[in-house]
Amino acid sequence: MEKIVVNGGNKLIGNVQISGAKNAAVAIIPGVILSDGICRIENIPNIMDVNLMATILHQMGAKVNRINKSTLEIDPTYIRNPVAKYDLVRHMRASSYLMGALLGKFSRAEVALPGGCDFGVRPLDQHLKGFGVLGAEHSVAGGIITVKADKLTGGHIYLDVVSVGATVNIILASVKAEGRTIIENAAKEPHIVDLANFLNSMGADIKGAGTDVIKINGVKHLTGTSYSIIPDQIEAGTYMVAAAATGGDVVIQNVITKHLESITAKLREMGVQVDEYEDSVRIRRDGVLHRCNVKTMPHPGFPTDMQPQIAALLTLADGTSIVNEAVWDNRFRYVEELKRMGADISVDGKIAVIQGVKELLGAPVKATDLRAGAAMIIAALAAKGTTYVEDIQHIERGYEEIVEKLTLLGADIKRVYANDSVIQPA
Ligand code: EPZ
Repeated sequence: MEKIVVNGGNKLIGNVQISGAKNAAVAIIPGVILSDGICRIENIPNIMDVNLMATILHQMGAKVNRINKSTLEIDPTYIRNPVAKYDLVRHMRASSYLMGALLGKFSRAEVALPGGCDFGVRPLDQHLKGFGVLGAEHSVAGGIITVKADKLTGGHIYLDVVSVGATVNIILASVKAEGRTIIENAAKEPHIVDLANFLNSMGADIKGAGTDVIKINGVKHLTGTSYSIIPDQIEAGTYMVAAAATGGDVVIQNVITKHLESITAKLREMGVQVDEYEDSVRIRRDGVLHRCNVKTMPHPGFPTDMQPQIAALLTLADGTSIVNEAVWDNRFRYVEELKRMGADISVDGKIAVIQGVKELLGAPVKATDLRAGAAMIIAALAAKGTTYVEDIQHIERGYEEIVEKLTLLGADIKRVYANDSVIQPA
């Protein structure tokens, strides 16, 4: 098995380029299914989840052409079979978006129940509630969920929970439905806005994305388009925290500073210097890290996908910090791994109490999920000694060239096989 090996203690210095947003890409690629023509998608991150989603579309009959590392051209007009196969779908939560896209295009979808990061229950009840309002019925058999409708008709959906996935799926299912759909209590994440902008560039009529009320007037046809994905808010936040953890000086380029506001505010609260420019932020920290409290919330609150990373930073702060994970049931599995490095954290349900320590010590740890893996790397960069991060497939799902990007910033970090031969970057 591959591992990532980090010799900690180097300050991160220099510039890093942020890639396209994973959670926008995995919603936009299924959205291509709704098109009657070829879609060219640019600034797409070259990560496993994106390649998996593109492979699923190819398996269904779409023509997928990789123009270069960050550009795909997809022709969905040959998709005839609205079935997403179990062997690929079960690896990724975003596969659930295939339900909305296939339902929106074919009025029928057969999709394996999705997999993805394991941090508690990941229900689909709000997705199915939305499909039901549009006139679709669903059934589950053999791990496959089938959703179908004689005709999709717009309706008024009030989400019981602010759900990114349900908001995405209802948008995908309703863009070609007859009449108007209104989604209340909708998610407001940047990737929701990006999906709506992508679909509108194909001729959809979606208003209010980014607010908690989204209005969709169904249209008959969606044309092909050329679209560039927004920068990844969470990748950018991860490098911001890594720079702060090592006491470095890093310019993070190709960002939308507005998407980073809650992360910037929290880092400033901790005594980190954050300077904002047109499409970049500069992170410097040469003083003490102050303790603070964090509560994860739907956008524009502090992102749950930044919770493990900020917790890793707080293990080195000058007092007691409280982290409240208010979005997911159980997103503290990584804490046991951080404690192997000397972190002083106690978890009770959705609350973690972090006592800052003077230093972390390198140790063998596991990436328990995608963002937990990023937190292990952040802790390892700041720690004294060597850290071995296992199960790095989780990290590779969502961070493009993380070892290469950190190496360019001065980190002593390598990808190695279990038998310790060093893997050279492509
Ligand atoms: C998306 O997951 C993201 N994944 C997650 O990021 C992110 O943590 C999450 O949104 C919250 O921002 C992608 O975009 C691919 P939700 P999703 O539906 O859509 C409850 C990463 O690290 N809920 O917004 O699955 C649910 O249990 C990944 O990039 C219901 O109760 O999240 C949770 O408590 C990890 N019923 C809350 O809503 C439903 O039908 C938020 O879930 C759906 C969700």
